[in-house]
Order: sequence, then C-alpha cells, then structure tokens
Amino acid sequence: MTGDNVDFTPAPLDRSAPLYVAGHRGLVGSAIWRKLEAEGFDNLIGRSSKELDLKDRGAVFEFFRETRPTNVVLAAAKVGGILANSTYPVDFLSENMQIQVNVLDAALEVGVDRLLFLGSSCIYPKFAPQPIKEDSLLTGHLEETNDSYAIAKIAGILQIQAVRRQYGKPWISAMPTNLYGPGDNFSPKGSHVLPALIRRYDEAVKSGAEVVTNWGTGTPRREFLHVDDMAAACLHLLEHYDGPAQVNVGTGSDVTIREIAETIGRVVGFEGVTEWDTTKPDGTPQKLLDVSKLADEGWTYQIGLEEGLRSTVEWYREHVDSIRE
Ligand SMILES: NC(=O)c1ccc[n+]([C@@H]2O[C@H](COP(=O)([O-])OP(=O)(O)OC[C@H]3O[C@@H](n4cnc5c(N)ncnc54)[C@H](OP(=O)(O)O)[C@@H]3O)[C@@H](O)[C@H]2O)c1
Repeated sequence: MTGDNVDFTPAPLDRSAPLYVAGHRGLVGSAIWRKLEAEGFDNLIGRSSKELDLKDRGAVFEFFRETRPTNVVLAAAKVGGILANSTYPVDFLSENMQIQVNVLDAALEVGVDRLLFLGSSCIYPKFAPQPIKEDSLLTGHLEETNDSYAIAKIAGILQIQAVRRQYGKPWISAMPTNLYGPGDNFSPKGSHVLPALIRRYDEAVKSGAEVVTNWGTGTPRREFLHVDDMAAACLHLLEHYDGPAQVNVGTGSDVTIREIAETIGRVVGFEGVTEWDTTKPDGTPQKLLDVSKLADEGWTYQIGLEEGLRSTVEWYREHVDSIRE
C-alpha cells in the first residue's frame, strides 16, 4: 500500500490517559501491562475474553464507546504453534480477522490517538532473504503450515496502513520474532516450540524418562526474544516511532532448534538422550529478523537466552498446576 497522510511527531504517552491493552492476560499482553504499570501508567484497561469476546462486533463497539481509550495496544489474537495452526486453519484466519477488524474499526470510531498492532514474523515469505527486512512483506509464498494466520496478520498491517492513509491516524504495527517468558502457553495442543520443549524436558526429568523425542530434524534456525524485552520495545515504539511500515522486533541473532533443546535440557537438569522424529515437519528453515530499523529507533534487547530460559523454567515450575490447557 502506498501513500501516507500522517503528520505526527512521536512523544511520551500521557500516563493518566486511558490505555486499553487487548489481550492483557496473554503472554505478550501481560508483559506489556507489567511494563506500563512499572512506567507509571495508572489508567490501564483490560478485559478477558470471557468478559469481552472481541469477535462480538456489537460488544466491542459498546466497550469502546463506554471506555473511550486514548491509546490501544492490540495484543489479543488466536495464537498457536505448528500443530494448532495446521489443524485449525479456518479458526486462525477467521477469528483473527474478526478480532482485528472489530478492534480497529471501533478504535477508529472513538478516535483512538495511538494504536500498536502486533503481528508476527510468519507474515514474511518462507524463503525471504535472511535476515528478513521489513520490505520482504508480500514478496513471495508463505510457509504453508501457518499461512491462514499469516494472511490475517498481513490484513491487519494493511488495515493500519489504510487507516493512516484515509484518516491520518498515527497507528503503527510491530512484528515480533518468537517470544517466550513468564505467562507463556505450555499446553501440548497449542504451544509454540520453546514452551513445548520446556514442558517436554521438565516432564522427562520428573518421570525419569531417558529419551526425549522432538519433532523434525532440529536443524531449523530460530530467533527468540524474552517477552519483557518485547514489552519494552512496544512502549519504545509507541513513544519514538511513527510510520506506515511494520517494525521488526527481535534480537537479530538465531540458534538451531537442536541448540535450544540442548540448552533447555541443561537448564531443567535432563541427563538423558534427545532423539529427532524426522517424519514430522520442520517448518521454515530459518527465520531471523533484520532488526536494524528498530536499532535505528534507539532500541535493543537486554535479556540473554540462557538467563531468560532460567527465569521462564522457574515460572513454569511454580505455575505448572495452574497453567492453561
Ligand atoms: N507468542 C509469540 O511467540 C508471538 C510471536 C510473535 C507475535 N506474537 C503476537 O503477539 C500477540 C499476542 O500473542 P500471545 O503470545 O500473547 O498470545 P496468548 O498468550 O495466547 O494471548 C492471547 C490473548 O488474546 C486474548 N484473546 C484471544 N481471543 C480473544 C477473543 N476472542 N476475545 C478477547 N480476547 C481474546 C486472550 O484472552 P484471554 O486470556 O482472556 O482468553 C489472550 O489473553 C498476537 O498478536 C501474536 O501474533 C506472539
């Protein structure tokens, strides 16, 4: 999409203005909430999906008319790993489209000032040159295992750009790499690779199993960012960035799935053998974001992988009896 009609200079957000975090109980939303509270935001608004189903267009408009947020972070989405994405493509496409369109339309109606839409690095083509720059968007075929989800997210980015062009609103999009941390989804049915590995290795330690079998060859390379870093990046972008292009958020370096599995095994104290089920799909061979745009905006990550894994395993062990299924 070309053309941009926004004339806006980013500035610190008003800490007492109502700010709605959609998805505030999720991995990303809860980290953003914690970060905003720590930064002195004292008028945060959050609703669980039980209190407000964002697929319910009427309820979403009613909520926005009542609460009239000045700023919005859209971190609510139906999110899952390869298995969930490839088993329920309709749900990932349809639910995410509904959530986004309802929130963005209602935010427009009440005149939200700043809005941050969160997408995902799966929006980029499967064979995009690595590390992936923002301008790789829509230059090639998507990874098939999560193309429905990716298409929904791409539609969200385009809606943000369209709002900028048609209504001159300084709304922005960020595309995080793989995230992990406290509050992650550790369910065997819905989790991403890193929490799935933590759970698998931890259960092996508890049961005394000598072998852990992981999906695929272990050779794909992935980048991981701690969710507290992600939350800090979101606030940084809201206060320092404006532009129609989505901004990649990551560390700029990657590891193989095999390396991450070994590190997790070490962190949880697994002393057995890891095997790889090569009949299962690998997904994209490499996915590393080019984060130079974000670096140019003055932000870089702080939490190293091993340090982040240790605190995530600690959180998982403390919450293992109450984590979502
Ligand atoms: N996790 C990652 O590695 C990663 C990577 C890149 C991008 N992202 C992006 O970050 C965003 C958040 O992801 P996440 O990992 O935080 O996911 P998550 O932990 O599964 O949280 C998603 C949140 O969305 C809310 N939600 C889902 N459907 C809803 C509905 N119909 N109505 C209202 N709320 C609904 C859930 O609310 P309840 O808890 O109240 O049910 C939940 O809090 C997504 O846009 C995702 O694409 C995540």
